Amino acid sequence: MTDANAQPLYDTFARADLRFERGEGVWLVTESGDRYLDFAAGIAVNSLGHSHPHLVETLKTQAEKLWHVSNVYEIPGQKRLGQRLVDNTFADKVFFTNSGAEALECAIKTARRYHYVNGSPERFRIITFEGAFHGRTLATIAAGGQVKYLEGFGPKVEGFDQVPFGDEKALKAAIGPETAAILIEPIQGEGGVRSVPDEDLRALRKLCDDEGLLLILDEVQSGVGRTGKFFAHEWSGIQPDIMAVAKGIGGGFPLGACLATAEAAKGMTAGVHGTTFGGNPLAMAVGNAVLDIILGEGFLEHVQKIALFMKQGLASISDRYPGVISEVRGRGLLVGMKSVLPNTALVQALRDEHLLTVGAGDNVVRLLPPLVTTEDEARDALTRIEAAAERLSVPARQKSA
Ligand SMILES: Cc1ncc(COP(=O)(O)O)c(C=O)c1O
Repeated sequence: MTDANAQPLYDTFARADLRFERGEGVWLVTESGDRYLDFAAGIAVNSLGHSHPHLVETLKTQAEKLWHVSNVYEIPGQKRLGQRLVDNTFADKVFFTNSGAEALECAIKTARRYHYVNGSPERFRIITFEGAFHGRTLATIAAGGQVKYLEGFGPKVEGFDQVPFGDEKALKAAIGPETAAILIEPIQGEGGVRSVPDEDLRALRKLCDDEGLLLILDEVQSGVGRTGKFFAHEWSGIQPDIMAVAKGIGGGFPLGACLATAEAAKGMTAGVHGTTFGGNPLAMAVGNAVLDIILGEGFLEHVQKIALFMKQGLASISDRYPGVISEVRGRGLLVGMKSVLPNTALVQALRDEHLLTVGAGDNVVRLLPPLVTTEDEARDALTRIEAAAERLSVPARQKSA
C-alpha cells in the first residue's frame, strides 16, 4: 500500500519553505512574486548572479550545437578552459569534474599516485584540519573528519590524519613516513569562515617542501574571484602543488576541476582516472564564459571594492549591535558574521527581511553574494542586516509590550 503522505525525495535536506521560480542578477523571485536578495548565491555557486546574459547566451548557443561527447574524443572547449586555468594559475595540468567532492577525489588520488610512481607507495596518508569540509563522498568525509558526516557509513576511509586548526606543533607531530600531503582550505567555509593567516600558509608551503610533501588546497568555496583574487592563496604569495576547484567556476552549471603542477600530476597517466560527464561541452562553454567575465579587466578590483564596502558596513553594524553580531570575519566576499543567538535565528531574521544567507560552523552566518553585486545592492543588504539586528536586539519584554 502506498502512504499518501510519503515524500518521493530522500529526507537528507532540511529545506526552507521557499520555492523560487526565477532569478535576476542578485535577486531570486518566488512563485508568488516575492523578491529576495540572494547573498547565499547557491553557497558560492552563482558567482555572476542569476541569468547573467553572457552565460545564458553561451549555454543556449552550445545547447543547439553539442551537449555531450565522451572523453575518448577531443573536446576543444576543455582544452581552452584548461589552458586558461593553466595560464592564470600555478598549474600545468587540469582534470575536469562535475562537483567539488570529485575535484577533491582527483586531488587525493593525484597526491597518492605521485608518491607511488616515485617509488614510495607507502606514502598515502593526508593530513587535514579540524573544522574542514571537503565534500560528502566516502573519501572526502574521511578527509573532513567530522563525526556527524561519518556516522553510520561504515569504516572511515583509511589514510586521513586530522590535526587542530592552527596548531603547528600537532601538525609537525602528525607527519610520518607514510605522509603524502597536507590538505587545507585557505578559508574554511562550512567550518565558520576561518581564514588561515597568510604567514601560516607560507609556513605550510615551507613545511611541505622540507618534508617532501605535496600541498593540496581546497579552493572549492574560496576560489574563482570570491576573495578578490582569482584564487584565495594568491594573497599569501604561495603556490600549491594541487588544487580543487568547483562552485563558482560553473556559475550554476555543475563543474569542478583539479589543477596540478606537471610534477605532482606525473602519476596520472592514461587510464588511471576518468569521468563520464566531467568536462563535457556544455560545462566547458559555461566555464569559459564565467572566466570571460571574472578574468575581464577590473572585475577582481570590483570584488575587492564591494568587499571593503561590506566589511566597513558590517563592522559598523556589529559595533552597534554587539549582542547580535559579535565578530565579522573572512576575506573578500566570503564573509562570516559570528552570531550571538543561535545562527539559525539570525538566518531566519535575515530571511524575514528578504535577505538570503547561509549558516556555517562556529555559530556563524555566511554572506556569499554574487561577485557582480553593486554598491547599491550591497547597501540594500546592509540595511536589511541592520533591520534584522535591530529586531533581534529588542528584548522580548519590549517586543510583547
Ligand atoms: C571547501 C569545500 N570543499 C568541497 C566541497 C564539496 O563540493 P560539492 O558539494 O560540489 O561536492 C564544498 C562544498 O560546500 C566546499 O565548500
